[in-house]
Amino acid sequence: MIYSRNRRLRVSESMRSLVRENILSTSDFVMPVFVMEGENKEEAIASMPGIFRRSIDLTVKECRTLFSLGVKAVNLYMKVSEDLKDNTGKEAWNKNGLMQNTIKAIKDALPEMIIMPDVALDPYSIYGHDGIIENGKIANDATNDALARMAVSHAEAGADIVAPSDMMDGRVLTIREALEENGFTDVGILSYAAKYASSFYGPFRSALDSAPKDNMDIPKDKKTYQMDFHNSREALNEVFKDVEEGADIIMIKPGLPYLDIVAKVREAIDLPIAVYNVSGEYAMLKAAAQNGWLDNDKAIIESLTCFKRAGADMIFTYAAKEAAILLNNQ
Ligand code: PBG
Repeated sequence: MIYSRNRRLRVSESMRSLVRENILSTSDFVMPVFVMEGENKEEAIASMPGIFRRSIDLTVKECRTLFSLGVKAVNLYMKVSEDLKDNTGKEAWNKNGLMQNTIKAIKDALPEMIIMPDVALDPYSIYGHDGIIENGKIANDATNDALARMAVSHAEAGADIVAPSDMMDGRVLTIREALEENGFTDVGILSYAAKYASSFYGPFRSALDSAPKDNMDIPKDKKTYQMDFHNSREALNEVFKDVEEGADIIMIKPGLPYLDIVAKVREAIDLPIAVYNVSGEYAMLKAAAQNGWLDNDKAIIESLTCFKRAGADMIFTYAAKEAAILLNNQ
């Protein structure tokens, strides 16, 4: 007779909490924030209920709320007006650009908030690509030079960690060297190391109007730089390269459908791991909850906790504010 009974440790909430392996906390969250030009402006994003594009002043106000709830890091994305877009993405390193002014405004108001600007050209590109186009192709090394200028301009504005999400080869090293040369030795790099070409980015691209354009003689998707979702060993190859090039934090993206990759990378490296619970994952959960098919609050806490179980140290999620309120009220 074997007397082991697994249910003994599940008899009450006190017992369950005693043996709990992973705890979700507000300090695990990074909130992605969409910013637009103007003053006192706020626009709802239809496919992401509860998420808004805001002018800088209202963004700062929202950051104060986030910080007071215990969310101490934000990831910034700009809605760039069409007349500022071109193939080089040069608006991306305008010292007085929307991103740079947003970073300064948040840093002034909340010096303790960790500011992580997105480093990628797609919101600034007339083609909607993360790279500069030369001869109908994404030009890797020319793009890296642009990304390095962009990252340095973010550092000058006060960024704590730059977050390249473009998937060009060698950009972590190019960015690291540029930061060092300009004296930004303490500005970190969170590298989107294993970022897949995914259909789950749809709502994000409509929020920023940044989807690859359809009517030109250029690649229609991002499959020549983002990873093929059939692969997993390749993710380790991407991760090891970025670690070697000097990344401080490694990102896996998307999140929920890619937890196997998070677990695999966790086994392989000791650097902090970030995971991105992307726009399409958020939209799916919200759509089901709005139909009454899922319990919104429980589904949010469960899915975010699963990231911790898989081995992530931090979670980029549009549900950060909502989840922080839920955790604070527990
Ligand atoms: C682009 C970028 C994307 C996201 C973050 N940065 C979209 C893309 O690669 O096309 C997606 C985030 C989300 O879907 O929530 N550099």
